[in-house]
Amino acid sequence: MESPKPKTAVYPGTFDPLTNGHVSIVRRGLDVFDTIVLAIAKDTPKQPLFPLEERVVMAEEVFAHFPQVVVEPFSGLLVEYVDNRGAQVVLRGLRAISDFEYEFQMALMNRRLKRDVHTLFMMTDYKWLFTSSSIIKETVSLGGDVQGLVPEPVWLRLRKKYAVQ
Ligand code: COA
Repeated sequence: MESPKPKTAVYPGTFDPLTNGHVSIVRRGLDVFDTIVLAIAKDTPKQPLFPLEERVVMAEEVFAHFPQVVVEPFSGLLVEYVDNRGAQVVLRGLRAISDFEYEFQMALMNRRLKRDVHTLFMMTDYKWLFTSSSIIKETVSLGGDVQGLVPEPVWLRLRKKYAVQ
């Protein structure tokens, strides 16, 4: 007998901060999955600007009207978290070819750690091809306007962080 198809995908990231590119992946992910768990990493090689709690609160605000989106922090190995949640799919967005090597490495390492956790990639919408959390932070820190590239709650917090009027 066929096993039931996965209904939940875990979309992990640092989300420092969440951008409209991430939001687009979540929205499109919901065309395929019933539930998307936006899993915000405590353990990341990056040095985040926003503490974990604030990254979680921002995401909760952004997805407040999406009952199919669950926002959760996680620590430790991603595959353990995915397994403990009873999920089997990790969803990631791919922008340009430059993302590929890093994503390929992560996906293969995760597969080596747990073979029944699968990574699925969605091509990022062309509108967000050149967006990244880093470029957004750099732009705001220098006084630039990133409205339209990040959700409103993120824009408000970025302005506060960098004391932009
Ligand atoms: N649109 C726009 N930008 C996007 C995007 C999209 N669709 N998808 C990714 N990005 C950008 C992000 O803005 C971010 O930019 P930055 O590098 O300037 O910060 C970058 O691409 C990727 O960031 P993010 O999507 O937040 O994910 P991440 O690569 O920081 O996430 C983890 C890495 C958390 C998934 C990984 O470190 C992890 O699994 N950690 C847990 C510990 C573990 O298991 N380690 C072993 C893993 S092999």
